[in-house]
Amino acid sequence: MLRLHNFEEYQKAYQYSIDHPESFWIEQAESFRWSARWNKVVEWDFYSAHTRWFLQGKTNITINCLDRHAEIHPEKTALIWEPNDPSKDVRKYSYQELLDEVSRFANALKQLNVAKGDRVLIYMPMVPELTIAVLACARIGAVHSVVFAGFSATSLHDRLIDSAAKVVICADANDRGPKLIPVKAVVDEALSQGLEFVKQVIVYNNCDLSVTWNHERDYWWHELVKGQSTLCAAEEMDSEDLLFILYTSGSTGKPKGVVHTCGGYMVYAMYSFQLVFQPSEDDIHWCTADIGWITGHSYIIYGPLLSGVTTLMFEGVPTYPDPSRFWQVIEKHNVTIFYTAPTAIRALMAAGDHYTEQADLTSLRVIGSVGEPINSEAWQWYHEKIGKGKIPLVDTWWQTETGGILISPLAGVTDQKPCYASYPLPGIQPILVDSAGTEITENGVEGLLCIKYPWPSIIRTTYGDHERCRQTYFSSFPGLYFTGDGARRDPEGRYRIIGRVDDVINVSGHRLGTGELENAINEHPNVVESAVVGFPHNIKGQGIYAYVIPMQNVDDPNQFFKEINTQLVKSIGGIAHADKFMVVTGLPKTRSGKIMRRILRKVAEGDLLNLGDTSTLLNPEIVDEIISKYNRQ
Ligand code: WT7
Repeated sequence: MLRLHNFEEYQKAYQYSIDHPESFWIEQAESFRWSARWNKVVEWDFYSAHTRWFLQGKTNITINCLDRHAEIHPEKTALIWEPNDPSKDVRKYSYQELLDEVSRFANALKQLNVAKGDRVLIYMPMVPELTIAVLACARIGAVHSVVFAGFSATSLHDRLIDSAAKVVICADANDRGPKLIPVKAVVDEALSQGLEFVKQVIVYNNCDLSVTWNHERDYWWHELVKGQSTLCAAEEMDSEDLLFILYTSGSTGKPKGVVHTCGGYMVYAMYSFQLVFQPSEDDIHWCTADIGWITGHSYIIYGPLLSGVTTLMFEGVPTYPDPSRFWQVIEKHNVTIFYTAPTAIRALMAAGDHYTEQADLTSLRVIGSVGEPINSEAWQWYHEKIGKGKIPLVDTWWQTETGGILISPLAGVTDQKPCYASYPLPGIQPILVDSAGTEITENGVEGLLCIKYPWPSIIRTTYGDHERCRQTYFSSFPGLYFTGDGARRDPEGRYRIIGRVDDVINVSGHRLGTGELENAINEHPNVVESAVVGFPHNIKGQGIYAYVIPMQNVDDPNQFFKEINTQLVKSIGGIAHADKFMVVTGLPKTRSGKIMRRILRKVAEGDLLNLGDTSTLLNPEIVDEIISKYNRQ
């Protein structure tokens, strides 16, 4: 696998990867164990959203994550688990132990007739069994679809229908901060409308919470694995067999199932992990994301385990028992690579510097940021208070659809500039285009961020609806993959990601579609129509601002807002809680009936002087109403 030491080597490798992409990727793919070699490196056509990598290659990602490391150093720690409650026991698994547990659970799944190609939905708190379940699916060729345990029963229900999952794996409850959150009860509710294709529910006993039991359908994890063999032959997978589906929000309609496949995802997860974080054998890597998001898939499970380093999983939250928790965990486990989100950094920065001084952070070698643009103040604080002004800070830009990091400083290899995700990794060919799709070739400009050549872990399709994939990513600018982000390129060619240019908002690094939020609000019986926009929020990056037209007069707006928030949490989950509302009698619309979100965004930002031209609206008077309501709030 590619090893780089300085900027000149980076530039050389980058140039080579553009001039000879196939040879470049062959070299990266050669560091894995394949049971049959590919006969073609890449086949692609962005016009039809078609990409295939390492065609006809055969492998199993778990052989590369587990077996090959267990053979060399069976005793080496693969996984460290830090519980929510700091007084509870830490759990550790060596590579051999993790392989044994994955095999045992894989055999249990087989016993339940789960086979290659079946979808398994995993709805679990951050416990080691979540990682074991993911890898056990991969072991037998079942397609895992992890759903973040904060999602509501309705969201879970929709994802079950879309994936037609045969089995659900969950826990009784989630021990999170000061709360115990029921999990099995949410699964029961999601399944209450009879989804016959779900044959079994496997429940891991995490908190000894009493749960209702369906004797025909429900199985305890510990009973299923009892007596299972620790040997389970890995299913031979084609490079392009599905590895997982991960649902994410788009600008319109319901969430879509992003599909990643076995060969290309494997190559890119390890490649990007190694290049960005520059791990060595004794690193302890801690990514604070939840495995319910792509960051957890690629940089808690697959990237680190493929590389044979030790990965840390944390069950809790940054502020429990107090805001020194992250720093305490770093000291306790001698964490060397720490990877978190700007929203957490801002919250911990606001809590006060004294918390960072309560722990010894000298084990740290690299720190990283992901999920949303990091503002300059947070970048400086992170760099100085956590990185002590000297260790590399990598601001990594990527997406669920990209499978791995595409643009980022490479720790200790390329330089860093505050707020810049910086240069593309070798093999990645970003370009900026204007709204007509014309490439902007000069530097020091802003534009829409597209990628013009495929990389191994690019999205293959949206599950069950290939046309949606083509429409969403490949139709705005024919021949290019469109990211949905706007970006600026500095004179030296570094990229700064500005944010989404579509109707996706990013709340605390969680991606939400305005359409999806509006659909949820509209379910309230007293709502005619609504429009949701993002606005700058100190901690969350973006907050949710909802404009709502009620059916009947609202006497008590506070009560109405509460009900709407209840509806949002019920339809989507806690992450969809709105921050601000305005009751309006209409929404600004164009003559063709489209909501003019630009105006709503400006008002939500408090930028009332720059609303632009409103004269072409169907109902310009509504803008005056909104402005006067804003001024009275
Ligand atoms: C969107 C993708 C990639 C894992 C987490 C989010 C935004 C992501 C950065 C960054 C600025 C970023 C983009 C992107 N984003 N990383 N370093 N700087 N913005 O994955 O939920 O698929 O969201 O997150 O807007 O399009 P996701």
